[in-house]
Amino acid sequence: MDYETPLFFRVMGYANEADRDVVDMVSGNPDWGSPPGIAEGLHEYADLGGADFQYAPSEGLAELRVEIADRRDVDPEQVVVTNGGGEANYLAMARALEREAGDEFVLTDPVYPYYPGKTKMLGGTARYVAAEHDGSLDPAAVREQASDDTAAIVVNTPNNPTGAVYDEATMRELVAIAEEHDALLVSDEVYDHFDFSGEFTSALAFDSDHRVVTNAFSKSLAITGFRVGYAVFPPGLVDVAKTRHMLTNVATTRPGQYAVLHALRETDPDYYVANRELLESRVETFTDALDAAGADYTSPDGAFYVMARFEGYPGTLANVEKLIDEAGVAGMPGEAFGTSREDWFRFALVSPRVEEAAERLAVFFD
Ligand SMILES: Cc1ncc(COP(=O)(O)O)c(C=O)c1O
Repeated sequence: MDYETPLFFRVMGYANEADRDVVDMVSGNPDWGSPPGIAEGLHEYADLGGADFQYAPSEGLAELRVEIADRRDVDPEQVVVTNGGGEANYLAMARALEREAGDEFVLTDPVYPYYPGKTKMLGGTARYVAAEHDGSLDPAAVREQASDDTAAIVVNTPNNPTGAVYDEATMRELVAIAEEHDALLVSDEVYDHFDFSGEFTSALAFDSDHRVVTNAFSKSLAITGFRVGYAVFPPGLVDVAKTRHMLTNVATTRPGQYAVLHALRETDPDYYVANRELLESRVETFTDALDAAGADYTSPDGAFYVMARFEGYPGTLANVEKLIDEAGVAGMPGEAFGTSREDWFRFALVSPRVEEAAERLAVFFD
């Protein structure tokens, strides 16, 4: 099997080697800092030593699983603490195939590239549903692609890369479609704290044995380097997922889990509000510049990315590199996210220099 290096690494490498100043709008690393509870938790942990420095329970620290379960209103037994959202998605997709109730994954286009990557790695087949122009998902279009061969429908809300937030009716329908075909809905909700629309609805809002919710603290607590996430499985599916997690990872990071637990307990809700508001103001600054540049774009309802298209300047890899060299702005080529938006660019708003990037783009496209 051949694994392609994600385009992300190639673009980052090119931007790092450029012999000029470049604003990085490629990575998904929050730049606004973690809440103090993270550092406090780590310091506290450092002094524990001994038994606390040994293996954590494979499925996660008991107190952290309870904390997550309370917040998500599920049984702690349903929670597996994972190596970030990435592993949570892997476990969910693997679990869907293990049910032997289909080997196809229904994915959206544009798509978060790791879903097709995992589909291929796990030996599944991908079927794509095109998102609407505004990034929303028409459940009728999903229904057309779903069949009894479907292992899982994999969605992400708020969405990377489109910024769409699926409303309650859409989520309800997605769960219903999964049930109709004895498949799973895998709902990746890593950007749930970055909903500007107020429309975000977790798949957990619908009681069903056919949905798995994945999440992580990577973005919400600005700790992508810590590797702490989780998956919530239906009770009948969780044990096998725990075994796969144990065989693959033994357990995820104990200091990371300890710090997350401390931060969850200590962090004021204002922390999340402030970050959301910061992002909303960046969206405004950036989309104003896109307007000035005459670009077509989707204004995100959530997450922290903007997709844009410039007349006569398609978002190819060559043009991404030219934008780095000549404008000093690094974005991602649309082809990284499927076929429907190959002409587009994706810009991540996780830089304090969004305004500068916006000005550079406006000048470049003038
Ligand atoms: C949609 C989506 N899911 C999952 C992840 C991975 O999250 P983690 O770093 O917690 O593995 C990302 C990271 O960018 C993401 O955009």
